[in-house]
Amino acid sequence: MENLKKILTRIDGKGYPAYKDLKGFYRFPDFSLIIDRVQGDPFASPTRIRIVFDTEKLGIPDEFLKSPEKMAVCDYLGRVAYEGTKRVSRIRGSGKSGLITIQKNGQEILDRTNVVFRNGKIEFRLQIGLPARGRRITGREAQDMFFSDIPRVARHILGYDKEKLNTWVVTIKNYHIIKEEIEKMGIVAFIPDGAILPRRTGVDDRPLEDAVPFRSPESLRVEIRLSHGETISGMGILEGVTLITGGGYHGKSTLLRAIERGVYPHIPGDGREYVVTIDTAVKIRAEDGRRVEKVDISPFISYLPYGKNTEEFSTDNASGSTSQAANIMEFIELGAKLLLLDEDTCATNFMIRDERMQELIAKENEPITPFIDRVRELYENLGISTILVMGGAGDYLDVADRVIMMKEFIPYDVSERAREIIRIHPTRRKIETSKDLRISKCRIPLPDSIDPSRGRKVKIKARDIDEIGFGRETIDLSCVEQIVETAQTKAIGMAIYRMREDVMDGKKTIRECVDWIEERLKQSGVDFLNKGFSLDLSRPRGIEIGAGLNRLRTLKVKSTIKT
Ligand SMILES: Nc1ncnc2c1ncn2[C@@H]1O[C@H](COP(=O)(O)OP(=O)(O)OP(=O)(O)O)[C@@H](O)[C@H]1O
Ligand SMILES: [Mg+2]
Repeated sequence: MENLKKILTRIDGKGYPAYKDLKGFYRFPDFSLIIDRVQGDPFASPTRIRIVFDTEKLGIPDEFLKSPEKMAVCDYLGRVAYEGTKRVSRIRGSGKSGLITIQKNGQEILDRTNVVFRNGKIEFRLQIGLPARGRRITGREAQDMFFSDIPRVARHILGYDKEKLNTWVVTIKNYHIIKEEIEKMGIVAFIPDGAILPRRTGVDDRPLEDAVPFRSPESLRVEIRLSHGETISGMGILEGVTLITGGGYHGKSTLLRAIERGVYPHIPGDGREYVVTIDTAVKIRAEDGRRVEKVDISPFISYLPYGKNTEEFSTDNASGSTSQAANIMEFIELGAKLLLLDEDTCATNFMIRDERMQELIAKENEPITPFIDRVRELYENLGISTILVMGGAGDYLDVADRVIMMKEFIPYDVSERAREIIRIHPTRRKIETSKDLRISKCRIPLPDSIDPSRGRKVKIKARDIDEIGFGRETIDLSCVEQIVETAQTKAIGMAIYRMREDVMDGKKTIRECVDWIEERLKQSGVDFLNKGFSLDLSRPRGIEIGAGLNRLRTLKVKSTIKT
């Protein structure tokens, strides 16, 4: 502390670069302060510091320090720290002078780098704007920040609410219990009675107030025993093909979106805490304009104009149907076991060709085998389930194991009624498959096609939640819908870089590389992708890392026959 005071007195009034002398370790009465990276000027990206406590000092019970409880502890304390920084952060001069902040957590509980247990201590990684007037250091302001603001943040953290921390821990424990239980029961998604699924607005992920709580149809209701012996009931969607139907504006997409997000735990009060979906669930949609590299889309698209190869389909500008076919095949390659589709974002001609269209356009002129003719095979041959929102095409009733109808935001099991309708109005469309669905190829990424550098430096940046700047390239993730935080986007960029450096050897497949990085992330936490404590990262799933790689426009692969 004394040392820090001395430096600040010495550099007062000097040019901004003199702040570089602050780098280092300082002891405060309740915590240690580490200054890792000092900004170059008041407008540059802020200075990185760590507030480090002994774990005992925070009084975290030992049983909270194992997995997955630990993740909930970090998540909760990250929120407390954020609140603390908001109270003290203020303008203290030019540019970012006076700023004190920490990565803000969204509605999901994730493994992040803003709060990390390391070597028996707990670290909070903050960003601060070192104060200046113009480019001249204002030492007094800096002293205020270090000796008043930051200790206040530390005190705020120490004063966290033990009860609340407990609810975080219970929530994550129960989430994992439900996940284990549903897997045993062959259920792919669970939505509890009483859950609040809709969000406040399209850009505000908090729960909608006065929403209609979820209520399971009797026939689909299951009960699960939670950590303290109590039980929870809700709708269990079994493996197979499930249709969600119903009138417009009755809550179909809202239900599907909650299922998409169910791959992550949520914070207490979110309304989706115990909506649980298996880990390998993935949203599928059309994504025209995307690049595709040697993907075997032949199960869906048999031939294309001018004899374009569909077993190793490459394009810089995919169409609606070919992009959706590529998305499915790539995600299967990455291990997806549950496909989530919403008619709102699907290519119609990829989904269905009805009887009349079959009359009008002979099969010879239509390369597409619509999804409706593959969806059962996906399940029966490959064990891949589908949950599909479909209000517009009744032919889908034929291929569904169960049909759920949303009416005024409440689901009803209408499977019986659907079977009756099939009997009374049999479909006259023909099934269009010519050969069986097989996954026969795998792809090997070529490391030289992946260049994270710009000039001499590695440059990887999340420009927003849906865009990575990767070297000279831009990776567009706007159609990868299960990314929930910009810090995940950033981590995807870093993960691609790590895979390129550490595993890609021109022999391992995309799947092997992604499995490798996923295992590393599981073992060491997302902090393993960090460098010099200077990044804010949240852990993405392997599936999204693979999705990022597949969208890198320079990616080249070698396609081989699967053994
Ligand atoms: N349980 C609920 N309580 C209150 N409002 C809800 C509930 N579920 C959804 N909503 C709201 O109703 C609106 C319509 O929901 P959603 O988009 O899910 O409908 P949809 O059935 O998919 O419609 P469409 O067929 O037009 O795509 C949204 O604004 C959503 O936030
Ligand atoms: Mg909809």
